Amino acid sequence: MKKTLRDMDLKNKKVLLRCDYNVPIENGVIIDDTKILASLDTIEYLLNQNCSIIILSHLGKVKSEEDKLKYTLEPVAKRLKELLNTKVTFSKQCVSTIVEEAVAKMAPLDIILLENTRHRDYPNKEESGNDLQLANYWAGLADVFVMDAFGSAHRRHASTYGVAKLLPSCIGLLVEQEINALKKYVMEPKRPFTVLMGGAKVDDKLPIIEKLIPSCDYLLLTGALANTCLQILGFNIGNSIVTKEPHLIEQMKKILVANKEKIMLPLDVIVGRKYNNDYLKHLNLIDISDDDIILDIGMKTVEKYNNAILESKTIFINGTAGKYEDDRFATGTRELLLKVALTDAITVIGGGDSVSAVNKFGLKNEFTYLSTGGGATLEYIKDGKLDAFDAIEEESSYEVLDV
Ligand code: 3PG
Repeated sequence: MKKTLRDMDLKNKKVLLRCDYNVPIENGVIIDDTKILASLDTIEYLLNQNCSIIILSHLGKVKSEEDKLKYTLEPVAKRLKELLNTKVTFSKQCVSTIVEEAVAKMAPLDIILLENTRHRDYPNKEESGNDLQLANYWAGLADVFVMDAFGSAHRRHASTYGVAKLLPSCIGLLVEQEINALKKYVMEPKRPFTVLMGGAKVDDKLPIIEKLIPSCDYLLLTGALANTCLQILGFNIGNSIVTKEPHLIEQMKKILVANKEKIMLPLDVIVGRKYNNDYLKHLNLIDISDDDIILDIGMKTVEKYNNAILESKTIFINGTAGKYEDDRFATGTRELLLKVALTDAITVIGGGDSVSAVNKFGLKNEFTYLSTGGGATLEYIKDGKLDAFDAIEEESSYEVLDV
């Protein structure tokens, strides 16, 4: 296990803390503050050590000057201040003499949140290209680096990996908790183990399926993965999202053939059509026509999947069953989440859209564990490691924290 906060001498230190504050913000309002709440334990731990804290985070993907205005962490600084009930200074730059001056003047317990690290991605991709000069700059602001951005830990960026190579570094409490939870619940699951996989991507998810399928008893597919399987089986899926990559189709075909008993596919779907917002139909698979787009699963599918859910002792969910953001196509996702929430099984939600859906339906407290990582969760399950941690030293004195 990597060095943790407890392995470091942090008393009175100036700490560079990488959080993942990549939160949904609309018109300056934070829609979901789960990731901010998840960062508080580490910040409080550091305050108890009398540290001064310089926080780094990315927000969105910055590809233009307009994106810099759009993706600002200012609302996060305000929310953090409310939650911590202490002053949080927001720096409108993440690199500037103003930053250096403000950091030089910091006293113990001061907190500064620097502007979005990805502002350094335009025009030169310094942050995501792990530019050494940029990593050096940030490392030069502090004595110690704490990596607590679990959701960004699959990225080898200047603010995640680069700085860790240049400062005494450790992981934070959130990262520790996420890793322990994934190991305990998903990588060594109590059987029967059911995996529910959906969403719009196929390429990222196939390696995870390959990794999980030996220990899983049921694999319930929705979204682009299900569409790809249905097409392989000869169903017309109209204009629905599907992978067109021959090697992915081949890989999916092999998984399907080898795991016929484990894999469940939709029986009925809700379809819509492009350029026609009023079009919505509940169809059996054989009735889908060329212009239809599958945007949700139907209730026959929910009931079929519920048979596996009811038998399970562990359930892992990654990806939603449809376009849940649109209430007309949210029923399948909501009903599946409700069925899972009603069981006594260990239930783990694997980040990204699934967590947003859980929050949208007010089910946040109904699951055993909600991970803050989307891509990072999947990478960790696949490889048992995350790229950003490669620069952090191992520490043998580690004890497992209860999650
Ligand atoms: C996430 O929201 O999944 C993380 O913050 C990573 O974001 P990214 O995919 O833009 O790197």
